[in-house]
Amino acid sequence: MTKVLVVLYSGGKHAEEQPKLLGTVENALGLRPYCEKHGLDLVVTDDKEGDNSTFAKEIVDADVLITTPFHPGYLTAEMVKKAKNLKLAITAGVGSDHIDLNAANEHKITVAEVTGSNVVSVAEHVVMTILVLVRNFVPAHEQIVSGGWEVAAVAKAAYDLEGKVVGTLGAGRIGFRVLQRLKPFDCKELLYYDYTELPADAAKEVGARRVEDLKEFLSACDVVTLNCPLHEGTRGIINKETLGYMKKGAWLVNTARGALCVAEDVAEAVNSGHLAGYGGDVWPRQPAPADHPWRKMQNPFSKGGSAMVAHYSGTTLDAQKRYADGAIQILDRWRNGQAQEPANLIVENGAYATKAYGQRTK
Ligand code: NAI
Repeated sequence: MTKVLVVLYSGGKHAEEQPKLLGTVENALGLRPYCEKHGLDLVVTDDKEGDNSTFAKEIVDADVLITTPFHPGYLTAEMVKKAKNLKLAITAGVGSDHIDLNAANEHKITVAEVTGSNVVSVAEHVVMTILVLVRNFVPAHEQIVSGGWEVAAVAKAAYDLEGKVVGTLGAGRIGFRVLQRLKPFDCKELLYYDYTELPADAAKEVGARRVEDLKEFLSACDVVTLNCPLHEGTRGIINKETLGYMKKGAWLVNTARGALCVAEDVAEAVNSGHLAGYGGDVWPRQPAPADHPWRKMQNPFSKGGSAMVAHYSGTTLDAQKRYADGAIQILDRWRNGQAQEPANLIVENGAYATKAYGQRTK
């Protein structure tokens, strides 16, 4: 019997209150009826850390692993070795950096994700986070909740987005949608840094200019948004040195992956006042520990400058429906011996697939 192991975050009472929370252990991406119908053995868990976790125990004879970037079952090289039967690893969402892709290739495990399923969800979150930071919203809101009323205290660090230079590091599906949504804000300039050039008509549509040198790109921007995958060439790309290229008082938004940044260097940049603020929803390891430096960092001037949340930008209820359906489609194709949608494939038959996924290039 084919065994499907699924690692998801727990929904608890929220899953009862909201049946659209498909990406929870309780609702299991809608897989229960599918697996019942087709006679598949389904194991669903949120217990994923350490050798004694359900994930570590159940992976040993699983044929298929399905997990999400929000609560990832980390498929390390060591786990891959243990997973003797594993043939397919599905990411219900976008971004498969929780999987050691080289190990997957070595063991001929297919890795596929639901490309595009939550790119609008993330792009909207990026624009929101940029505005929340630039307008100094968080301390302004906290002041009201705490009973205060001191306009100057919050206005002293609030700006308009209009007239600022905004750049995206990575101008793929999400990065491009961010540029599209920023266009009407009349920014001074929209920039992008990507080793792939936007098609001419796309660049024209958003009026974005490509900057090929990272230092030049970072130093030109008032706001930087990170929208590239995590791979060997981007891990820690934002660090003490590259933060130093950024203008004093710039804002940085990261909804791509936490490990694109050196966490302590970002916290130091905010706490020292070099960055006006940092916001996003992704953390180097998830769930993030209670004492992670990004939880309490604060710009000394604004007494704000942080817009961090748990990883949820790409798991809106709309997105959950898309990635749940997409994950089942990938499973269905695999069961029926059909080729996967090329755009969904990350690795197959021991090789990196065609999707522009950095780990195989730079
Ligand atoms: P995509 O593959 O459409 O675009 C990624 C772009 O990054 C490509 O244009 C690629 O050329 C560029 N890139 C790769 N390496 C680069 C480098 N070293 N320097 C400059 N550019 C580089 O991917 P998509 O759909 O836009 O997603 C991007 C990332 O966003 C995902 O890999 C994932 O990590 C993250 N993500 C986060 C979500 C969330 O909930 N916070 C949800 C979905 C995606």
